[in-house]
Amino acid sequence: MRSIINEKNLNNKKVLLRLDLNVPLESGKIKDTTRIDKILPTLNFLIKKKSKVIILSHAGRPKGKKVKELSMKPISENLQQQLKVSVKLISDDVFKIENKNFFDKFNEKIIILENIRFYPEEEKNDERFAKHLASLGDIYVNDAFSCSHRSHASIQQIPKFLPSFSGLQLELEVYALTKITSEITKPITCIIGGSKISTKINIIKNLIPKFDNIVIVGGMANNFIEYFGNNIGKSIKEKDSNQIVKEIITLSKKKGCKIMYPEDVLVSNGLNGSPLRKNIDQVLNDEIILDIGPKTLKNITNIIDKSNSILWNGPAGYFENPNFAYGSIKIAKKIIEINKSRKIFSVVGGGDTVSLLNKLNAVNNFNFVSTAGGAFLEYLEGKKLPGITALN
Ligand code: 3PG
Repeated sequence: MRSIINEKNLNNKKVLLRLDLNVPLESGKIKDTTRIDKILPTLNFLIKKKSKVIILSHAGRPKGKKVKELSMKPISENLQQQLKVSVKLISDDVFKIENKNFFDKFNEKIIILENIRFYPEEEKNDERFAKHLASLGDIYVNDAFSCSHRSHASIQQIPKFLPSFSGLQLELEVYALTKITSEITKPITCIIGGSKISTKINIIKNLIPKFDNIVIVGGMANNFIEYFGNNIGKSIKEKDSNQIVKEIITLSKKKGCKIMYPEDVLVSNGLNGSPLRKNIDQVLNDEIILDIGPKTLKNITNIIDKSNSILWNGPAGYFENPNFAYGSIKIAKKIIEINKSRKIFSVVGGGDTVSLLNKLNAVNNFNFVSTAGGAFLEYLEGKKLPGITALN
């Protein structure tokens, strides 16, 4: 990957910049600006270098059609506000735009094209579309790690036609994920939660050979609790998960990775109920497991104490009800505490986990917090991401 940071000659260059400005929108209002905030350094860098920037991004899943609610308008306004330079949204049909008088006609430093997924060619990975987009710029920069698992025209095809570079945010993300999966400082622990074990099995299998400990929490731990002969009452569980659990246990024994699942839990009769602590062999038929218990938490904090690298994905319980946020909050606080007392490397990702850290105002206390959803998970599975491959 060639970094845009090292590129000397950016003055007056037309930079086609792929960003992930796919922020949550509600009635034309942005609900969370994290993804915009994160790419401001790249834009400020290009502004300082006197480049002319053409931003490409998608928002939502309009499926190749114009959807008014998914316009880039609020995003372009937010960018203008934050960058304090004029940002022009171009809603014209992209096929009618030409490079030659692009910045003469629209005399702004930053131009943003309308939602790239309004064109069916984007998701079809259409080469002609990509070639036309490429003709608008002199160079291409991908600063959209979180879209780099998609084989889409603006991600995978444009680099075929232009000198291509990685952006600042993409590099930070790749650096953090490489450090936590390849250039590891051991002992290394993964805390993995969330509800569905089938969506995370490939991650767990990919990490077992490299990791010292894998701590299973959240709804997916129920599959382990039941596998070992305990009643889980009305708790969520996946059908036919025994085979998955068996595969994980067998591989972990072979590779010397310790798998830990809860010893005690907090249960209730409903999602809005109050917590009751139980050992895992005491759960009744009408109870739901909604968080880890204090003994389990003690085990987890002991493991964190002994780790030099920590990867965390997925909450430990049903944190939407504050009664069951205890486990996740304590894990977050423990990692933060350890990070302050000695140097460890901590990476957190996944929508729910990041929103929990946002609630705790703790995002800046980790070495890296990934806002990428699917791309983060696919990278952890060991898959090659088409957007990154295209840059190489
Ligand atoms: C994301 O939110 O993970 C990225 O913007 C990719 O969006 P997608 O899942 O709709 O491709």
